[in-house]
Amino acid sequence: MLDEYDYPDDGHIVFAMDQFIGEPEYWNRGIGSSFLKKMTDHLKTHLAAERVLLDPHQNNIRAIRPYERAGFKRITPLPGHELFEGEKVDCWLMELVL
Ligand SMILES: CC(C)(COP(=O)(O)OP(=O)(O)OC[C@H]1O[C@@H](n2cnc3c(N)ncnc32)[C@H](O)[C@@H]1OP(=O)(O)O)[C@@H](O)C(=O)NCCC(=O)NCCS
Repeated sequence: MLDEYDYPDDGHIVFAMDQFIGEPEYWNRGIGSSFLKKMTDHLKTHLAAERVLLDPHQNNIRAIRPYERAGFKRITPLPGHELFEGEKVDCWLMELVL
């Protein structure tokens, strides 16, 4: 999987995650930010995670904003990375160093 992202396999313990709040009325209420903090704390404390990766669509500002607030950095553009509703969509590889 790391090859797919051209991400260096340099011995760190790396996790990747994705999150989706199913009901739109619960978006933009801080739930995502809270979840990110709890999940990344859990990965570090209980699974010794050193890096966490995400690959949001570049136009998904609602996702990227809480990701950056949680400390994730955009490290690599991923052109046409995901097929979404019949079209290839540009994404960012984002990394959190724990
Ligand atoms: C992405 C997701 C998990 C984030 O969770 P959330 O609870 O909505 O996120 P938060 O409320 O913590 O933060 C959202 C931020 O984006 C901002 N935002 C929302 N829409 C925006 C827009 N169009 N432009 C700029 N900022 C926007 C909000 O104001 C908020 O920032 P603020 O707290 O500084 O005001 C959730 O929205 C979701 O499940 N979306 C649908 C699925 C999805 O896109 N998943 C991500 C896959 S990578």
